[in-house]
Amino acid sequence: MILVLGGAGYIGSHMVDRLVKQGKSVVVVDSLATGFRPSIPPQVPFEQGDLRDAAFLNRVFETYAIQAVYHFAASSLVGESVSHPLKYYDNNVVGTLRLLECMHHHQVNHIVFSSTAAVYGEPETVPITESQRKAPTNTYGQTKLAVEDMLKWAGLAHGIKSVCLRYFNVAGAAISGQIGEAHNPETHLIPNVIKAAQGLKALTVFGNDYPTPDGTCIRDYIHVVDLVAAHEKAMQYLEQGGKSTVFNLGNGGGFSVKQIIDATEAVVGRAIPYEIKARRAGDPAVLVADATKAREVLGWVPQYTDVNAIIETAWRWHQSHPHGYEV
Ligand code: UFG
Repeated sequence: MILVLGGAGYIGSHMVDRLVKQGKSVVVVDSLATGFRPSIPPQVPFEQGDLRDAAFLNRVFETYAIQAVYHFAASSLVGESVSHPLKYYDNNVVGTLRLLECMHHHQVNHIVFSSTAAVYGEPETVPITESQRKAPTNTYGQTKLAVEDMLKWAGLAHGIKSVCLRYFNVAGAAISGQIGEAHNPETHLIPNVIKAAQGLKALTVFGNDYPTPDGTCIRDYIHVVDLVAAHEKAMQYLEQGGKSTVFNLGNGGGFSVKQIIDATEAVVGRAIPYEIKARRAGDPAVLVADATKAREVLGWVPQYTDVNAIIETAWRWHQSHPHGYEV
């Protein structure tokens, strides 16, 4: 049985979708603090609870014969992490500490962990390789880095093998249009641009005075379906005896905020109004991944390298679910 922690969240639910379609046995754990129960197929066993609750977690490990863990459960808002740092240490670091204690106790030795490009902070050079300096500029990135360290030491002492996947900007939705990105409040660019196109929300561009060709920030957008495919390859890598390591996950190409708005206008076929306001605190000008290692070691080849194709899948989801999973 495969345990997906945070399986009712945006990325976790796409992982569950992939595993279920392959006929794998999956159990989902989610506190539903930010996840949505309807994103999980009804036939998948679901346990609502919090990682920090050791008794709950042990019960899950005792009830299901867990062999491997995908760990998506975390607080993940950069801004909130700066204003509420202790919440992030508690949920992300203490939560994962309880998980590793439980895995050690039950001798479950394989984990694929959701890390982030935020571990790098302001990059020294782009594209960013895994070996670059890690200097997070917010508590979110710092807590993910703390967990990476914890995994390293727990691995050495207790034989728990891990792959940490440092995500760049995840976007898009399942091709079925049944599941997709739903956050409340939504802070990410592509869903916010789409919501503006739908007339649901006003769009703000945070700064047009960055040292980039059009003055807006450049990011590396990766499709959620490609992202979860990489998770599966990472787990196979561990099962085949691969040693603990980290991989960047991105497409290796950058798009500015303005280019994303232009591309979305082309996809939805209408002009999207926006207002330019001040920079958002902590936004680096350019974040682009060097994901060569994941391609070479895992044999991972992303399918959605065209940003319009990424936006198209997000648009389909938002059209059929203008209010996400809420009716
Ligand atoms: N942006 C806007 N308007 C919006 C939303 C975003 O202009 O309404 C801009 C941001 O200022 C930024 C870019 O669009 O320049 C992308 O912003 P997102 O919030 O979509 O994504 P981030 O790059 O801030 O964050 C992502 C992940 C984080 C991760 C980070 C790594 O969501 O979890 O990359 O740096 F930590």
